[in-house]
Amino acid sequence: MYVGADYYPEHWPRERWEVDAKLMQEAGFNVVRLAEFAWVNMEPMEGCFEFDWLDEALAILHKHDISALLCTPTAVMPAWVARKYPETLAMLPTGKRITWGVRKNNCFTSGAYRLLSERITRAMATHFADTPNLIGWQTDNEFGHPVCCCDTCRADFQDWVRAKYGTLEELNRRWGTHFWGHKYTTWGEIQIPAPSGTAWRLAGADHLGTHNPSLCLDYQRYCSHLNVRFQRDQVRILRELCPDHFTTHNFMGAFSDLNYYDLAEDLDLVSWDNYPVWDRPAISYGSAAAADVMRGLKRKNFWIMEQTAGPGGWSVFGRNPRPGEIRKIAYQQLAHGADGQVWFRWRTCTAGREQYWHGLLGHDGKPLRRYREAAQTAKEYHKLAPELEGTTIKAEVAIVYDYETIWALRIQPGFPGNTYHEAMQRYYNALFRAGVNADMIKPTEDLSQYRVVIAPDLFILPDDLAKRLTDYVSGGGVLLTDCRSGVKDETNLCHDRTLPGLLTEALGIVIEEYEAMGDGVEYTVVGKQAIEGQYAAVKYVDWTTPKDAEVLASFEQWHLESFAAATRNRFGKGSAYYVGAVVSEPAFYDQLIADVLKAGGVSPVLAPPEGVEVSVREGAGKKLLFLVNHTEERQQVSVPSGKPELLSGETTSETVTLDAYGVAVIKLE
Ligand code: GLA
Ligand code: ZN
Repeated sequence: MYVGADYYPEHWPRERWEVDAKLMQEAGFNVVRLAEFAWVNMEPMEGCFEFDWLDEALAILHKHDISALLCTPTAVMPAWVARKYPETLAMLPTGKRITWGVRKNNCFTSGAYRLLSERITRAMATHFADTPNLIGWQTDNEFGHPVCCCDTCRADFQDWVRAKYGTLEELNRRWGTHFWGHKYTTWGEIQIPAPSGTAWRLAGADHLGTHNPSLCLDYQRYCSHLNVRFQRDQVRILRELCPDHFTTHNFMGAFSDLNYYDLAEDLDLVSWDNYPVWDRPAISYGSAAAADVMRGLKRKNFWIMEQTAGPGGWSVFGRNPRPGEIRKIAYQQLAHGADGQVWFRWRTCTAGREQYWHGLLGHDGKPLRRYREAAQTAKEYHKLAPELEGTTIKAEVAIVYDYETIWALRIQPGFPGNTYHEAMQRYYNALFRAGVNADMIKPTEDLSQYRVVIAPDLFILPDDLAKRLTDYVSGGGVLLTDCRSGVKDETNLCHDRTLPGLLTEALGIVIEEYEAMGDGVEYTVVGKQAIEGQYAAVKYVDWTTPKDAEVLASFEQWHLESFAAATRNRFGKGSAYYVGAVVSEPAFYDQLIADVLKAGGVSPVLAPPEGVEVSVREGAGKKLLFLVNHTEERQQVSVPSGKPELLSGETTSETVTLDAYGVAVIKLE
């Protein structure tokens, strides 16, 4: 079990390093992440390397039994790189290059940048290969930005497209360029479009967002490929020179400008940056789902590489984690499979843009409340470590998490505010409230290992996936899908079929028409059978005609009277549910999910009170139940009695009491 902090010795005088290492050791820390942005400190002039300072820091940490991860420092190029090789700076859509001086300035197709990045990676790997306390490497930092509109990138994109489609005729067909007279007659005519996504918003390119959707989707795939390729060049070197060290990258949870499955494939381990403390205290549904996405990338446990240690902000800052909250955030991730925990950052910096991004220690460097809470957590983690060994979440419910669908929905949401994550969280949050764990899976994953598969907003539905979902249901699986599923094919053309296309038979419904509603328009949804009560449909409804399916909810408005808002269809040995509306009230989804779980024969270990999260890690003959109180109220939770609670050392009676942000770890087996 590794616990520690992101540490920047280069920000502090050398006399302080010993003090920091000692404080970390006293806190129970045994790992730090180093050198993330320290390229210029290690290569102050082209080809001249200076590693002495880092050797010294590593030696001091080693003396205090602290292991280290080093980063390839390529997320911030030294000023001399930009000066000597201006083509390494990414070009904005305006045709101007980025002004050097923030982070992530580089063009990923620049030959110079790729060579310089490989050289610093090789120099570091060679130098540090035998450092006794070095255990692993993080590539770069938070891949994803920027996108670049330079001529090299455009030519490279054209090559990528050519390799994919082979002939212009095929490209024109798959992109549907007969529309608006967009047919290409040479490869050189292909332009960089404006895909949607944060990178483009940062680049100020939103106004360009009306290009051909098929072109946009392929461009998004291409941008992802550039990052994956850049990382792969580094990983190859690290593996060759440091075969005993693991490789990782700090992913960003729900961030989805890149295909994270591809980025994770070349790494040994996924880690991610979790910053859930923003405005008002709230139940951290998003961090739970993001953790499951991270665990799903390699289908194994992950690390937290950066986690909230104090108020965060680059110009204004947010609220301070309240007493118990730093520990609670850590336990939520532990419960979802985090086997390493690193807080960002050790000490708040007195210089630079992140002066307000607070660490465990303040500017004053004193070990105060936040430090003490992290230390308590670290010590508990070490105590739990033998019990955690070999355990992970073994979910019976899967959620299909597909980057292609995420991107296609960003390019054309269909109705305002429609994102994959919004749709997914409606079901995910209901599972969370029911106390049921879920796996986030690629669409190509073997579905038969799950009792329930939820495929929210499955916008891109290739025929083979539709067939696999149908087989899954007929073989006894329970499928739940909803609005806008099955609209598109792999190249982002609409299928020329009546919705829900190839899922029609399994779902037992037909959708001949649908509509988006403006703000303030609501239709009344009336529950039937398993769903009780009345709800509001907002934003979008399918005009769903039930064929073989039973109606679980209908509409009250006269023009929708013959249509269903939610259906359930028995098909073969299984059942398939469809929700053809966006419903405002969580209670609607809670009842629906209860019925879906019943159909799948999935029963939670216990029914938690609202705001208490339940998660189970099991394996190697052990089964651990985690309870995490996301609220500031004391909560009573009914639990299996006569079991050891590992943090207090007590044996459970019928209930466990959790204080504000309290946690419990109960050994069920
Ligand atoms: C990101 C980065 C860190 C730091 C924090 C806080 O997660 O990886 O280097 O900048 O944000 O801003
Ligand atoms: Zn470029």
